[in-house]
Amino acid sequence: MDRSRQQPIGIFDSGIGGLTVAKALHEHMPNEQFIYFGDTYHLPYGDKSADAIRYYCIKISKFLLEKNCKLIIIACNSASSTAYDMLLDFFDGKVLFVNVVDPLVHEVISKGYKNIGVIATKATINSQIYSKKIKSYNPELTVNEMATPLLVPMIEEGFYNGNISRNIIENYLSNPKLEGIDALLLACTHYPLIKNEINDFYQGKVAILDSIEVVKNEVEQLLTEMDLKSYEKSADDLFYVSDYTTSFESTTRIFYGEDIKLEAIQIWGQE
Ligand code: DGL
Repeated sequence: MDRSRQQPIGIFDSGIGGLTVAKALHEHMPNEQFIYFGDTYHLPYGDKSADAIRYYCIKISKFLLEKNCKLIIIACNSASSTAYDMLLDFFDGKVLFVNVVDPLVHEVISKGYKNIGVIATKATINSQIYSKKIKSYNPELTVNEMATPLLVPMIEEGFYNGNISRNIIENYLSNPKLEGIDALLLACTHYPLIKNEINDFYQGKVAILDSIEVVKNEVEQLLTEMDLKSYEKSADDLFYVSDYTTSFESTTRIFYGEDIKLEAIQIWGQE
């Protein structure tokens, strides 16, 4: 499969949480064109079945492939944990995929933590992907995974860095399941927004790891290895959503840090 440096990079998420990843990549690789797809029509993925998420992921990846992407980043843990392997099989080398789970797993292993906590959506926790992958490296490690489903709507409604978020976060993190951990994985692309509050809860005694930095490095390394890094930006970044509301548009600022123009695109029901 021939690929060229000038092709865009696709990024998708269930909605706008993946913009935390898009923003970091955009700043780190200003010469790449990014095409973002937020599946706001089906948001949240965290409450969907694995089969439903897989179906959405195939359709979105086909769309990004039609947009000529050289690489697709699955900027959603719920999608990465349920659909990554299937996407590799389905597209059979037609496009490169990067997920957000493996880089985080490699990071926590390389840092040598022993008692690892994981917080994420129900879909990610039900897949048990983190404990399976971490234990496949070292069965001696302890991994405690816990679903924290209130955090995504809380963040999307702008409740962070305040009393409400502090109470909810404290309530979740005080769960005995997470007692004695030395590292906590923020296994949802929304959670970097509450990283400081989580850090405050642990008063710096537990390492808090999210996927932003590690995914950024993974993408850069992959493009470099494959000689696919662009040295000149070919076109502006594009941001698509499958269902548009003004509230999504205003929420993007929370995740992207600046105003962006969302474009509604209908990709469902056109088989
Ligand atoms: N950002 C998604 C993730 O990383 C969660 C949002 C959702 O439930 O759709 O899992």
